[in-house]
Amino acid sequence: MKVFHSNSELDFWSANLSKDTLSIGFVPTMGALHLGHLKLIERACLENDYVVCSIYVNPTQFNNSEDLAKYPRDLEKDLKLLSKFPNLVVYHPSDKDIYPTDDFKEPPKIDLKGLEKVMEGANRPGHFEGVTTVVKRLFEIVRPQKAYFGLKDYQQYLIVKRLADSYFPEIEIIANEIIRSEKGLALSSRNEQLSNSGLIQAARLNNYLRQVVSMSRNYSIHSALEKIIGEIELDSNISLEYLTIADAETLSDYNQLKSKAGMVFIAAWVENIRLIDNMRL
Ligand code: PAJ
Repeated sequence: MKVFHSNSELDFWSANLSKDTLSIGFVPTMGALHLGHLKLIERACLENDYVVCSIYVNPTQFNNSEDLAKYPRDLEKDLKLLSKFPNLVVYHPSDKDIYPTDDFKEPPKIDLKGLEKVMEGANRPGHFEGVTTVVKRLFEIVRPQKAYFGLKDYQQYLIVKRLADSYFPEIEIIANEIIRSEKGLALSSRNEQLSNSGLIQAARLNNYLRQVVSMSRNYSIHSALEKIIGEIELDSNISLEYLTIADAETLSDYNQLKSKAGMVFIAAWVENIRLIDNMRL
């Protein structure tokens, strides 16, 4: 494993690679790594000659400065977890490497076809502008053939695919399944901030999603949603931001007759920590 803390170190390394014969996979992260990240990296390492994993807590995608300040950071622990991957390059840039001037903070102009207007986009203003800005910048710096994203952030995955279609048609965007704890809680760097009882409460989000999925088989999807929203509202440890269903491709309203596939999405707060999850209907 190699660790580079600047663009110049990364550029020097990649200039010496013969890109015609060697493939580069890319896994962007914000660190505080867990098994969800490691599975992406493991897959990327199997499918490419080299893999770059970036660790960068991107300030432009946080719509709340308190959230940015308390985002977990532990580079030493991350590097220990990554040391078992021989063909891995860890790229840990500074703010100046990513945003040398304010012009670099200008979001890319892409028609996201409304993907950015719902759920996380509606509830975290500016979030996806920040995500597309940093991912575009990272793709320009790393120039991978393949980039790996987790389906836990399903909306992000769809938006990154559109970004790649517009700006980087040569990069293949690969999605990996959601990795969960034994109790079903989707792994997240933010889970580190939960107490033991918070972790148990947070695992109930997954139960609620599963209940919507199973009820949708026998009842109308809207009555299933209404019933489960009612149950969550009675759950004193969980504060619901949204529980919604959407078309899996467009994220627009799910129409049982027209949509090829539907998904259920949840965002909720447990112990003042915001968590998201999703599931196919
Ligand atoms: P981060 O939250 O660190 O996640 C990095 C990648 O790991 C994302 O593609 C995310 O979907 C994936 N991931 C996280 N938890 C997962 C889980 N339980 N199962 C499967 N995949 C999981 O997402 C970001 O960082 C940032 O927005 C980033 C893309 C790096 C841009 O700053």
